[in-house]
Amino acid sequence: MHSASQRRPLVAANWKMYKTVAETEDFLDRFLGSIGNLGEVDLVLCPPATALAAAVERTRRSPIRIAAQNVHEQEAGPFTGEISIPMLRELDVAGAVVGHSERRALFCETDEALARKVPALLSAELLPILCVGESEAERDAGETEAVLARQVDADLAAVPDPKLAGVVIAYEPIWAIGTGRTATTEQAQEAIALIRSRIAVRDSAVAARIRIVYGGSVKPGNAAGLFAQPDVDGGLVGGASLDPEDFLAICEAA
Ligand code: 13P
Repeated sequence: MHSASQRRPLVAANWKMYKTVAETEDFLDRFLGSIGNLGEVDLVLCPPATALAAAVERTRRSPIRIAAQNVHEQEAGPFTGEISIPMLRELDVAGAVVGHSERRALFCETDEALARKVPALLSAELLPILCVGESEAERDAGETEAVLARQVDADLAAVPDPKLAGVVIAYEPIWAIGTGRTATTEQAQEAIALIRSRIAVRDSAVAARIRIVYGGSVKPGNAAGLFAQPDVDGGLVGGASLDPEDFLAICEAA
């Protein structure tokens, strides 16, 4: 029903709490020289907050866009340790990952907060990369569809339908993150098709256009099979994105 050709693939690197400024610059020096023929893919790099400014400077004359790994929805305020959207915009940062399962589980990020963060990013013309995904226990209990529907509905509740296509959704099954236990191509396709059909309940034209990527133990050896699935529009890559050659191979697979 929905043609993947309408959607430009996107591959994002989520570096989590890895790489100093010096390591970020070293990665980019090696990576930038080799991305010549990746014009068909949107490339996004999400370094730690301390390396955002250096990453933006190093990638100014390249197709790579830099995104944060988290953001606060308020413009300013007594929120110790948080970073606001205007602060990201001042650095020319292009977007932010929100709702990563590590932030949900370890740092209490809630669907209620996400329902404020996603529209705040869109209003500032920043790209939200919204992560959703079920735990192993939820999958085993047959709750995958319900969990994904609940997260998609809650986190995007305040985004008006015409703006929905500006969001990138990352389907990241928690059991596949950092475990080496990648979802099968069928599992990734099935879950992402479920997410797309949930968006179609709101607006079928948006569902055909919104990009939904897969994350969870994406490696050079499994990326092509995952990205070839009709509803999988690219990937959000953790561990394998830390090495410029591995990350390049994954980008080429898209
Ligand atoms: P890994 O690729 O290391 O499994 O991490 C996935 C992830 O959490 C990306 O956001």
